[in-house]
Amino acid sequence: MLESIRNIREEAERIKIQSSEELEKFRLKYLSKKGLVNHLIAGFRDLPGEKKKEVGKALNDLKAFLERILEEGNALYLQSEDEAKKVDDSLPVNAYRVGSRHPISLVKNELCDIFYRLGFDIAEGPEVEDDWHNFSALNFAEDHPARDMQDTFFTGDLVLRTHTSSVQIREMEKKQPPLRLIMPGRVYRNEAISSRSNCFFHQIEGLYVDEGVTFADLKQTLYYFVQEFFGEGTKVRFRASYFPFTEPSAEMDIWAGTDTEDNRRLTKGTGWLEVLGCGMVHPNVLKNCDIDPEKYTGFAFGMGIDRITMLKYGFTDIRDLFLNDIRMLSQFKGIQK
Ligand code: DAH
Repeated sequence: MLESIRNIREEAERIKIQSSEELEKFRLKYLSKKGLVNHLIAGFRDLPGEKKKEVGKALNDLKAFLERILEEGNALYLQSEDEAKKVDDSLPVNAYRVGSRHPISLVKNELCDIFYRLGFDIAEGPEVEDDWHNFSALNFAEDHPARDMQDTFFTGDLVLRTHTSSVQIREMEKKQPPLRLIMPGRVYRNEAISSRSNCFFHQIEGLYVDEGVTFADLKQTLYYFVQEFFGEGTKVRFRASYFPFTEPSAEMDIWAGTDTEDNRRLTKGTGWLEVLGCGMVHPNVLKNCDIDPEKYTGFAFGMGIDRITMLKYGFTDIRDLFLNDIRMLSQFKGIQK
């Protein structure tokens, strides 16, 4: 037995371990459950008593010797391989991906900027609204069709706001004129989804209430906006319209043209694209917010951001804006607005 111990030790001394695989082989051969050391220990139990002392010592020495080799190997190979995994020198530098703003956010920010330059402050309101702010205070009659189940998502007594006009009410309830505000946000409608309309979209609401505000002020403000946003010389037209919360009411179209297939589709062949609704704030709306309609007048407007975004960036299907497709989004990299 002593001889076997000596042989194993000599053999182990000659082994040169150079990798974690070789280290594992070493462990399996000598120090695992079925390894040589355990094999010797099993034989040791059957030795006659007087031999046990000497053999036992030799066996312990051998085991300690082998364990030291294993430990040193662990320190050398396992640790350095772990480190190597953490730092991969072959990776390209600047591996951080820079994101991009969503086109809707780009357009929203640009719109806010334009009106901010005209002295409009920015305000926001909740997307889950009560009937008062979304409808009643805005002078919708009890039986107005817009309250119909088809247009509105109801959640118990509350609604998902169908327009950002609700924020006008919240702001007028809080403050007396002069008020000059721009109010962006997401709105919801229970509508059939198609390439031109979605069940949620984005609006930006404008409100200006003060003494002596007129329809001429409204037009001047919107002309300025169109030239700034769509470019100088962009043609505009106003059409008479109806909204319960404005009197008189109008809609504004811009000339997008009929020269491309996309523009024809977007404008239903007319070349004119409706971009917003507007008007003079109805006296009932002012009264509902405790603002004296004898003293103050105001104008308001509301426009869809999604349509304008489609026009500006050449989208032909509104749903493409919300696919979260990184290939679409990454095209807007580097536009800082
Ligand atoms: N709230 C209207 C809509 O969602 C848009 C609108 C029209 C807003 C006229 C206004 C306005 O502020 O004066 O269709």
